Amino acid sequence: MMPFDPSALRADFPILSREIDGKPLVYLDNGATTQKPTRVIDALARFFSHENANIHRGIHSLSRDATDAYDRAREYIKERLALPESHELVFVRGTTEAVNLAAHGLAGDLREGDEIVLTLMEHHANFVPWQVLAERTGAVLRFAGVLADGSLDLEQWRSLFGPRTRIAAFVHVSNVLGTVNPVSEMTAFARERGVLSFVDGAQALPHGPVDLAAVGADFYAFSGHKVYGPDGIGVLCGPRDKLDAMPPYETGGDMIERVTVSGSTYRRAPERFEAGTPNISGAIGLAEAFRYLEDIDWEGARAHETELLAHATGELTKMDGIRVFGTTPEKAAILSYHYAAAHPHDVGTILDTEGVAIRVGHHCAQPLMEHLGVPSTARASFAFYNNHEDVETFLRAMRKVERFFA
Ligand SMILES: Cc1ncc(COP(=O)(O)O)c(C=O)c1O
Repeated sequence: MMPFDPSALRADFPILSREIDGKPLVYLDNGATTQKPTRVIDALARFFSHENANIHRGIHSLSRDATDAYDRAREYIKERLALPESHELVFVRGTTEAVNLAAHGLAGDLREGDEIVLTLMEHHANFVPWQVLAERTGAVLRFAGVLADGSLDLEQWRSLFGPRTRIAAFVHVSNVLGTVNPVSEMTAFARERGVLSFVDGAQALPHGPVDLAAVGADFYAFSGHKVYGPDGIGVLCGPRDKLDAMPPYETGGDMIERVTVSGSTYRRAPERFEAGTPNISGAIGLAEAFRYLEDIDWEGARAHETELLAHATGELTKMDGIRVFGTTPEKAAILSYHYAAAHPHDVGTILDTEGVAIRVGHHCAQPLMEHLGVPSTARASFAFYNNHEDVETFLRAMRKVERFFA
């Protein structure tokens, strides 16, 4: 493994040398989606140039090659995640589909009055499907709050567990606050009480490898596009026995054992949940992203991201009227802030004129926005390929906002 070298890694991402209206692109919207290294782009081109065929159906060589590549992609990603033997990996469209699939499949486990524990820092993807599940089954939602520094109120979270608690769903890393939740501790707490845990890992994997055996979740989900891979592909990991007992989420080709006019039987996971032609190229591209990430010195990468965050936060908070949301010491490199003198959309628009891409809005976390007392925030989110020059350009652009509105 090469020692961490941000400029060498940056060169792996062709889009980062683009200009926006004559200004170098400064991409600080990594929380929304990450850019793709040449290796992933090439793997997709190679698949379509050499291997493209439908899988699991043809006896011709091309179909066998495509099937092998798809199956190898799954096995490789399982290995990289240290997925326990008891668990299976289902390819889905992304985190959103993963939560919907699990919430749909777990409906049979819930009775009226059973409880689902959520937190106020969830992305809507890990919020609304549970809300719908509660509406369908008569289950009750319980919410854990967020402390002033953006950490989860763990004491309150623990106090929400009672004899009727069946499911606890929580985010690994908050997309707004950057808070890294103590997920291993939380899954252990749930397990000891016979409660199923569902962890939304969408913002965790972009900042370093995740060892699912150590996390200890029943279910864990993430999206390919946020982890330097293609969009339209994601992962749901879950206990094999539980998955096999869950009703299929979608039905059709490839997920059946036998179909007769009087009824059908279904395959086990993962095929049980991969009806129809899956995103073959997406799975292959995602495995290539994992291969690329395997060569990164993550200790160096994390230290670099932390430095960028500290640089950006330190200078930004020197400006009058800046309020930063999420200040826990171990947070991921996500900087959400509110500038008193301007609406976040105006901040984002002015930054864009300087080539700086950030996110503004409620970040699909309206319950959290309500808790924070703001309708929306601006968010700069960093990846290992960002550098101090990006931070300086961002800060210069923010000073332009300040001059404009002061
Ligand atoms: C924490 C978190 N969970 C879930 C999602 C949803 O991911 P996707 O839109 O890829 O399904 C996001 C996307 O921003 C996220 O940040």
